[in-house]
Formats: sequence, C-alpha cells, structure tokens
Amino acid sequence: MAPSHQQTVQEQFTKTADAFARYVVRDTPEMVAEKVAFAQVRAADLLLDVCCGPGAFLLAVAPRVRFARGIDLTEEMIRQARAFQAERRIRNVCFERGEAERLPYADGVFDFVTSQYAFHHLPAPDVVLQEMIRVAKPGSRLLLIDSLAPEADVRRELHNRIEVLRDPSHTQTLRLTDFRDMFRAAGLQVVRQLIKPRERSFNHWMRRAGLDPDEERYTEVRRLMEESMPQDAAGFMPRVKGDDLIITHYEGLFLLLVPEPG
Ligand SMILES: C[S@@+](CC[C@H](N)C(=O)[O-])C[C@H]1O[C@@H](n2cnc3c(N)ncnc32)[C@H](O)[C@@H]1O
Repeated sequence: MAPSHQQTVQEQFTKTADAFARYVVRDTPEMVAEKVAFAQVRAADLLLDVCCGPGAFLLAVAPRVRFARGIDLTEEMIRQARAFQAERRIRNVCFERGEAERLPYADGVFDFVTSQYAFHHLPAPDVVLQEMIRVAKPGSRLLLIDSLAPEADVRRELHNRIEVLRDPSHTQTLRLTDFRDMFRAAGLQVVRQLIKPRERSFNHWMRRAGLDPDEERYTEVRRLMEESMPQDAAGFMPRVKGDDLIITHYEGLFLLLVPEPG
C-alpha cells in the first residue's frame, strides 16, 4: 500500500478513535450478536479479525472460540481495543498493530478469518483478501462484512464521491457484483450471503468522521446529500428528520469457504 494512504488511514482513525469506539460499542450490540450468529464459529476455532478497530466483534465472539487475534494499522484503535478487553476481563484475545496487506502470520494457521467495514478503506482489497486466504486453513471459513455501493455507475460515482469527501481514508465502496467477482476470482465459495439496509443519522455519521457542522467539508457533504434526494442520485435514500437526514447504507455479510488444494 502507498505510504500516503496508510498515513491518511492512521490520521483519520487516530482523530476519530474515541467517537468511533463509542459508536461501535454503544450502537451495535444487536448487530454484533447477529454477526456472531451468522458466522457460526466453533468452540475450537482460532480466529483472526483483520482491520479489527476497537475490537467490538472480537470481544463479542471471544467467549465462543478458543482464541482470537485482532490486527489493525492504527495504534490508537489497538489501544482502545486493549482497554475494552481489560474492562471486560476477556483473556483469550490479543490485539496487535500491523498491515492487512502483509499479515505477520504463517500460511494456513487460522480456522476463521474475518474483516468488517474495512474493505472500503483499502487501495487493493483483492490483495488483502488473498492474505486472508493465505493465513486461513484450507477448508476453513472467512467472514467479510462491508457496505455496498449502488450498482448503477452514475449513482455509484456520486455515492463514493460523498464517502471520500466525508472521510479521506475511504478508497471506494464496492458493489455486490464487485465482491462476487472478487470471491469468484479468488476461488472462494459463498456459503451464506445476507444483504440488509442500515439506517443512520447523517449528523452522527458526520460526527463519527470527526467533522463539525461549521466545517466546509461538512457543508459540502450535506449539500451533495440534499441535492441527491430527488432521484436518490447517490443511493443513500436520504430523508429529512428535523435538522437531520436519515440515510441508508446497504451492507453485505458473506460467509466464504476457503478452497482445499487440488
Ligand atoms: C471503519 S473501521 C472498522 C473497524 C472494525 N472492523 C469495526 O467493524 O469496528 C476500519 C479500520 O480499518 C483499519 N485499516 C484500514 N486500512 C488498514 C490496513 N491496510 N491494514 C490494517 N488495518 C487497516 C483502520 O485503522 C480502522 O481501524
């Protein structure tokens, strides 16, 4: 990965670590429970979560697996994850700093490899997917969760323009068809797939990205979002609620089978 993008990711997630950690811990217990159920982890699993952030998923899944490791580029995220781990006194988890593009693990060691809400920050998601496959045991499973961009080109372009303006560490949100093509090219079988809408407050979404309403970028994102309303030109389906907008992201959850050799 180009050092400049790594820097952007670390700056963004260092700046927003507190807001982001509060958001994932406070707002998603049901979602985390749903993901844990979707993943169908096993008690003997050695699990790896790539781009683990503050560790919400890992700490939720830990009681159901043998051991879980989390890796993330941003030191501040790892610090948050360790603090949550200490608070909850969870022992069978460890967190470390590292790059998803160069995972510091041997081939074929993990029973389950996961990554959530991170592929849209990666300049080369296919490279990271290959790394996840490399460190997973043949015949084991991957769980990939991320937002999905609209399929139509014009809508997708505006969707990603808004995302990148809000958060410069965003590279691009992929479409369902991009994910399916990437899985096929990597030889992964899709065992389960769930696509679901997720509504959120525009104001919270902006705050979580570290933007205040008096900032120019905030105003510009809000303007683009409002202008997209008549034809839903960016695929966020925004609607007005008081001084806020309710926007929708579609999310894809994919349970994937790692191919056996031969
Ligand atoms: C939107 S957060 C998601 C965090 C976590 N997976 C969650 O669901 O709460 C994206 C995370 O990806 C990390 N990240 C982005 N690019 C990375 C890379 N190349 N290698 C490792 N971590 C990366 C960021 O530091 C950030 O913590």
